[in-house]
Amino acid sequence: MAKVKAEDIDFNDLGFDYMDLPYRYQAYWRDGKWQDAGLVEDSDIHISESSTVLHYGQSDFEGMKAYRTKNGDIQLFRPDQNAARMQRSCERLLMPKMPTDMFVDAVKQVVKANADFVPPYGNGATLYIRPIMMGVGGVIGVHPADEYLFRIFAMPVGNYFKGGLTPTNFTTSEYDRAAHKGTGQSKVGGNYAASLMPGEQAHKRGFSDCVYLDPVHHKKIEEVGSANFFGITQDNKFVTPKSPSILPSITKYSLLYLAKNELGMEAEEGDVYIDDLDRFKEAGACGTAAVISPIGGLEHNGKMHVFYSETEVGPVTRKLYDLLTGIQFGDIEGPEGWIQKVE
Ligand code: PLP
Ligand code: COI
Repeated sequence: MAKVKAEDIDFNDLGFDYMDLPYRYQAYWRDGKWQDAGLVEDSDIHISESSTVLHYGQSDFEGMKAYRTKNGDIQLFRPDQNAARMQRSCERLLMPKMPTDMFVDAVKQVVKANADFVPPYGNGATLYIRPIMMGVGGVIGVHPADEYLFRIFAMPVGNYFKGGLTPTNFTTSEYDRAAHKGTGQSKVGGNYAASLMPGEQAHKRGFSDCVYLDPVHHKKIEEVGSANFFGITQDNKFVTPKSPSILPSITKYSLLYLAKNELGMEAEEGDVYIDDLDRFKEAGACGTAAVISPIGGLEHNGKMHVFYSETEVGPVTRKLYDLLTGIQFGDIEGPEGWIQKVE
């Protein structure tokens, strides 16, 4: 794939597509330590055919963004939280844990080296950053690898779901993305492999994505295939599912904090029963890629439940969106430690 040039990109018309930018960061874990760490230009990876990532899915990843502020600075949103979550995912798959300082420094190196590709302030576009970790080397039995490859690449992106702040519709899935006591809490490749078929089925039927129900009884909402779920109750409470098999979304925890501390709302993680959607006046999907994407309608068992509206974003969802993105793009001061500048 050919490298893209910043001057060839229309930053006002970005989707969510891979681009081969000039630089990425790479490091190998060998003999019990990180080595050969630094920026590289080649977007291809050369690994052994016996790498555990290829056979046994020993891989995890993160998703984060760099934001251009009004005065042209570049900043990251809670990168220490991505480092910590990757450490937890690595612990689950018996992979080495990259220290937080090394992880955040590597992210900053990639952003700085590709700074021309951080979209201008103003239309919500960002530089999406994808750290990945994988087992490589020569192991063929079902055992963890003895070598690991860590990489971070990036690309400018716009909306993940086509609507942006215009609501789109979702459908529940009869499939599960993760098992009870499985790997749902970890951001591991296998969870996403399991979600490809249900996701494509939903897309083919015109939905943005599917919503998974709890893998034990299929009664409670878990999350969207690529984001967490939240609802605003009729009495103005922010509610988001609590479950051991969903990804602990950094955006979700940020919204719980902001709803409570900045908007004075009650905010809680709890059960969200699929047969009790009337308690919500608004609903949405939240995540790094999704930001806050309002859910217009949710189809379940052939019936469409409309929350606020299929065409207009609800007022509470908009308030949360303005607050969250205001902090991310530097227009509003966030809680201490949430923003890190890329100098
Ligand atoms: N749930 C899933 C399955 C995801 O892939 C993501 C994306 O990272 C999220 C939730 C949202 O997490 P975060 O807000 O940390 O990006
Ligand atoms: C993210 O929001 O960063 C994600 O990882 C979601 C999806 C693109 C897999």
